[in-house]
Amino acid sequence: CGIVGIVGNQPVAGRLVDALRRLEYRGYDSAGVATIHDGAMNRRRAKGKLFNLEKVLDDQPLDGAVGIAHTRWATHGVPNEDNAHPHFVEGVAVVHNGIIENFSELKDGLVADGATFTSQTDTEVVAQLIARHIRQGLDNRAAMLAALNEITGAYALVVMFRDDPGTIMAARFGPPLAVGFGRDEMFLGSDAIALSPFTNDIVYLVDGDCAIVHRTGAEIIDFAGNPVERPHQISQATAYMVDKGNHRHFMEKEIYEQPEVISHALSHYVDLASYSIRPDIAGIDFEHLKGLAISACGTAYLSGLVGKYWFERYARLPVEIDVASEFRYRELPLSKDQAALFISQSGETADTLASLRYCKDEGLSIGAVVNVSESTIAREADAVFPILAGPEIGVASTKAFTCQLAVLASLSIAAGRARGRITAEEEREMVRHLSEMPRIMSRVLNSIHDPIEQLSRELSKFRHVLYLGRGTSYPLALEGALKLKEISYIHAEGYAAGELKHGPIALIDETMPVIVIAPHDRFFEKTVSNMQEVAARGGKIIFITDEKGAAASKLETMATIVLPDVAEIIAPMVFSLPIQLLAYHTAVFMGTDVDQPRNLAKSVTVE
Ligand code: G6P
Repeated sequence: CGIVGIVGNQPVAGRLVDALRRLEYRGYDSAGVATIHDGAMNRRRAKGKLFNLEKVLDDQPLDGAVGIAHTRWATHGVPNEDNAHPHFVEGVAVVHNGIIENFSELKDGLVADGATFTSQTDTEVVAQLIARHIRQGLDNRAAMLAALNEITGAYALVVMFRDDPGTIMAARFGPPLAVGFGRDEMFLGSDAIALSPFTNDIVYLVDGDCAIVHRTGAEIIDFAGNPVERPHQISQATAYMVDKGNHRHFMEKEIYEQPEVISHALSHYVDLASYSIRPDIAGIDFEHLKGLAISACGTAYLSGLVGKYWFERYARLPVEIDVASEFRYRELPLSKDQAALFISQSGETADTLASLRYCKDEGLSIGAVVNVSESTIAREADAVFPILAGPEIGVASTKAFTCQLAVLASLSIAAGRARGRITAEEEREMVRHLSEMPRIMSRVLNSIHDPIEQLSRELSKFRHVLYLGRGTSYPLALEGALKLKEISYIHAEGYAAGELKHGPIALIDETMPVIVIAPHDRFFEKTVSNMQEVAARGGKIIFITDEKGAAASKLETMATIVLPDVAEIIAPMVFSLPIQLLAYHTAVFMGTDVDQPRNLAKSVTVE
């Protein structure tokens, strides 16, 4: 969810909605806004995307120079208007991001006390608790602190009080929250981008902080009421709303901007004059490491899985990798001679952050591969490796994935060098290949557009798809399947090609096409054997290969997408392009909401 609040000196409703627009990546199930005007607290809420709320506000505008707003990604309670935030209880209004874990126990107590709930959300419990404390005689601030000491879970909260229109209170325990300092106006938001048109003078709250925000400043205290000091930062977030240019969707634009952003990312890690990895990027002492732990979620996890192949092959560095939601609870034995790497586009994913903190407690040095350099994960890491992809708006990650790969490739070469596993000559060769990648990607994007569009029309008729690959093409098969699921809602499974015969082969028939990713690398022959197994059972094959691979395979396919022959180190980035475009065009044919697919959010700050 995304939250925002303004204690202003001019009407706020329009600006709150404007800020919500920049937070829609955090969820878009429903949205709401509340303001106080002439002693009355009013709200407008609507199910679905933000434009539904805007329509409601057009018909019934809201006055008032103080207000809070919310865009929701549902956890407790279906996305409808009643469950949309802000939640009102008596004179208290609350917006919330996260999960109140003990809400049902608290709710039972409140109901037994006579409280009536108007929503199924966990959030309403917070409003009820604060209202009850006020009823029992506490002032607003004491009531807020009392409630914070009763709830457990992960939350960012912003609270407004009808009887005190000059103050908004906020608290953070988990999901991010930033306080923005304006001229005679103050702001609160889930991130600095949301606040960027208003101010770039930002204070990030840390876990356990409560902010009492007035028009002229903010006081930050802990949950016991003791004052705490937090540094001001000048945010680099820019106010411009990224636009689609001449593309139909952000996702398409982001796919096509990959050559440019990858060269941007590479220039940070690679010295093109000497074809070497810049010596100053390290931040992790690869030379003496016994192992590397990698953790991430979703697409970022899959880039980490490619990274594992690279670190092990090029640097002989053992890698332990897991999705962050498992990693954080596995109690993996770790030692100080290992380092940990966390990969996250947003830098805010709750499970990834929790895994980072686990490793930090174990005394490991922490690296973060992030896109948002002001994010919590970046701020808590010892070494930050920016991917420099620029804002990614499409919920399905594309350019962030390939930029993560470019950074991981550079780091694995740096590790190989540091550990004496890659010679200077080999490094030059690999870096030369990396530097050619943007040009090759541009060429590929042009050459495969038409065949992929044609193939997507066919693919959109199927309900199930299998994706296969070996080596680094295995994580790509998983990513290809994930992309299809996310935006076209086609059921897709990614498998290691060699695993096919151990189960999924039972699914093969003419209704389930099999997409095989197979550059002509050292696994090619083996993957072709697996394709034979599919063909022998009447399966339809979509073959994504390179020129050598296409020439070598005699199999009949439903379609063959041919890429240029490229070096092994850049193949995962180049082969990402057809799988992204295939998912994109298939979704377009199916008429889904490509940039904001159902049920998903771009940044997930709950467990
Ligand atoms: C969400 C997004 C995915 C993303 C994952 C991890 O599920 O929909 O696209 O890969 O979170 O996000 P992160 O910001 O940590 O990379």
